[in-house]
Amino acid sequence: MSKVFLNLGRQPLANSFLKDIGKKTLQNEFFYNLKICFNSKNYLVSIAKPVNPKKQYTDKYAHRASESKTMRFAFKKVAQKLFKRFRPKKIMEIGSNDGVFLKNFDKKSVVAVEPCKNLARLTKKLFETYDEFWNLKLANKLKKKKGEIDLIFSANTISHIPNLKETFKGIHNILSKNGVLVIEDPSLLKVLQNNSYDQFYDEHVYVFSSISINNIIQEYGLRLFDIEHLSTHGGSNRYYICKKNGKYKKSLRLEKAIKNEKSYKLHKIESYLKFSKRVNLSRKNLFTLMKKLKKTNKRIISYGATYKSTTVFNYCNLNSKLIDYVTDTTLNKQGKYTPGTHIKIISPEIGMNNTVDYAFLGAWNFKKEIFKKEKNFLKKGGKFITHVPKVMTLSK
Ligand code: TYD
Repeated sequence: MSKVFLNLGRQPLANSFLKDIGKKTLQNEFFYNLKICFNSKNYLVSIAKPVNPKKQYTDKYAHRASESKTMRFAFKKVAQKLFKRFRPKKIMEIGSNDGVFLKNFDKKSVVAVEPCKNLARLTKKLFETYDEFWNLKLANKLKKKKGEIDLIFSANTISHIPNLKETFKGIHNILSKNGVLVIEDPSLLKVLQNNSYDQFYDEHVYVFSSISINNIIQEYGLRLFDIEHLSTHGGSNRYYICKKNGKYKKSLRLEKAIKNEKSYKLHKIESYLKFSKRVNLSRKNLFTLMKKLKKTNKRIISYGATYKSTTVFNYCNLNSKLIDYVTDTTLNKQGKYTPGTHIKIISPEIGMNNTVDYAFLGAWNFKKEIFKKEKNFLKKGGKFITHVPKVMTLSK
């Protein structure tokens, strides 16, 4: 039923930036095989053998959603919008990170679930927070304690949980009769259209489509009734889900989205096999381009130490022989080394200097913002390299 269509090779955990590259640290670096498969029965695209979540979501988890102004603004906007549309009395978030979404509601009406203890600690001071993994046991415990929930929100989290059965069963158990589950995750259609294979890394166990979500949740008494397309993470979907007998009518835009995915043949293995060929070519082209530039003594760096670039660097074999260093605005990443490929990360203030000829767009999802910020680099003849939607150089 499930067929592997893409092999992205030996990969480290996408966010396991290294403090040093001493012998001991490198010996302990964890790697796994990143293979992606398609299930022809329910149309799910997933990692063939996911990593154990206990290895990933520890008390050292680095990503803080509140650090980005764009994300703070986006979560505030969606919080206001959902409150206006559904008027929920009780709200829960699965994967609440540093509280960037829940902060926008009355503290007494919210419950947070966040297994990374360092993050949960931050929001415990603000509202009720459970530092546990979401599963059936926790759902039942919360239902006993809090009663039914009217709005469950989860952004970039459900696609990270290997066990969808427990996830949706738990959600169904705790959701009120006309309650709504809203989830946001990267869009599979966008990944195929953009050849953005770097959306596949250990944390993204699934990359969902509306047709696969629709199939999966039906097994647990839930149904999809609306969808919104978002620009976040290079193209995401916001899915609106209710109980099978919930009062919500299926929207026209959902029907259109499903039709669109079917016309792109997201339900056929052939589309994934073709995608896999494009990804192979992308690897070849990126490596060849960088090799060629290096031969003519060009200085190449990378812009944004993203999780996505962990996949690109390791899959395309891009190391410090080709890329001098990576720049990133996140203080926590500066001074560290990229997972698997061990390229130094420094601040853009130091790194974006006159010696740079080419900067690979690791954070291609922020291309617009970066081009605006780096207009002087472009003006002076600096160029960016991207692999999305195909390998090319970009100048002003
Ligand atoms: P993100 O978009 O969350 O991608 P991923 O989920 O693949 O990690 O990360 C963007 C990263 O890029 C983050 O570490 C901040 C960095 N960044 C810069 O260094 N400069 C910039 O101008 C922007 C927009 C981002």
